[in-house]
Amino acid sequence: MTRIAVIPGDGIGTEVIAEALKLLKTVAELSGKEMETVEFDYGAERYLRDGTSLPTDALDRFRSEFDAILLGALGDPRIPDMKHATDILFGIRFGLDLYANIRPVKLLDRRLTPLKGAVEHDIDFTVFRENTEDLYVGIGGIFKRDTPDEIAIQESVSTRKGVQRILEAGFSFAVKHELKRLTMSDKSNALHYSGDLWQRVFVEVSRRYPQIEAEHMYIDALAMMLVKEPSRFDVIVTSNMFGDIISDLGAQLQGGLGIAASANINPESTCMFEPVHGSAPKFAGRNIANPFAAILSVQMMLEHLGFRNEASLIEATIRECIRENECTPDIGGKLGTREAGDAVCRRIQELA
Ligand code: NAD
Ligand code: IPM
Ligand code: MN
Repeated sequence: MTRIAVIPGDGIGTEVIAEALKLLKTVAELSGKEMETVEFDYGAERYLRDGTSLPTDALDRFRSEFDAILLGALGDPRIPDMKHATDILFGIRFGLDLYANIRPVKLLDRRLTPLKGAVEHDIDFTVFRENTEDLYVGIGGIFKRDTPDEIAIQESVSTRKGVQRILEAGFSFAVKHELKRLTMSDKSNALHYSGDLWQRVFVEVSRRYPQIEAEHMYIDALAMMLVKEPSRFDVIVTSNMFGDIISDLGAQLQGGLGIAASANINPESTCMFEPVHGSAPKFAGRNIANPFAAILSVQMMLEHLGFRNEASLIEATIRECIRENECTPDIGGKLGTREAGDAVCRRIQELA
């Protein structure tokens, strides 16, 4: 029995996760695999009701009782400092030490990219975003708040262990998938200390993978090159903040946040799967959010759990839905969130 913890979260998170669960149930029925999902009400409503963001026993429960976590999105305009969202999202990413945030960028249909003339094989790479360090560690503070002399300090942390393991993850992924090139991206021309560490560890790790072409590109140049020549990339490894930014850029290259999926991985832990997008408050409750990012996150989850046939069936089904315009307006269709979810469930039964 495979057990999955589900956190629908806030805004469109709840709507897209409902469709992802519908699809998961269909896949379980088709394949005969036993899967149990347990929902957790962590999010804005619960936080506003009783002050709970991530309960103290949550991480232990995820670790000991579940094979994976599926998350929708967190973020609510009633909580402008995002306190609940950071407690939950970072609580899980850091608490379970999910150090590799893997964000594939794959053009499923050439009509979806804003890049002139680009076709499917031009846009097919994976971002390995370091997920436990950098500016995200929350070290810093504010001095002389609300005075003209106010100072805000937000520290960036990079450790040898952290840099090494994300690079190892990227290189071994490249080997496993028989890819040609790994691009490490930093800002070592300006950020000398963290950059120096990344540069040295990159040289050390890349020596162990002579079959992979190891290239370095500054993050600003990489942003440019992602638009100019995305076909040169197979695997990109970068730090937390840079990875956050370029993964939204990558999402748009493949058709937008509505179809961008991600995995938060540590092979030793229970891992978490989530769309790259947020709670999109403007879209919430209107049955217009695209559920494909959440469904493709389920695909990544099934792949991780070893259900490879089921995972590739989901990708084939999403491709077909896009080709037949059975999708939401952000990617050219006319369907609502629920109807797009229904279409996927219908087509997967035909394809199976
Ligand atoms: P967002 O990703 O929620 O939305 C940005 C825009 O992307 C939307 O206005 C919409 O045009 C498009 N979009 C996103 N998801 C879509 C979908 N499924 N279908 C169709 N279009 C979609 O980003 P934001 O507006 O910057 O943030 C909203 C809230 O979500 C904030 O509170 C933010 O902090 C939070 N957030 C959470 C996560 C997460 O939980 N992992 C990720 C990003 C943002
Ligand atoms: C993401 C999001 C989060 C991040 C926010 C909501 C804190 O943008 O998952 O990409 O920066 O990691
Ligand atoms: Mn982001």
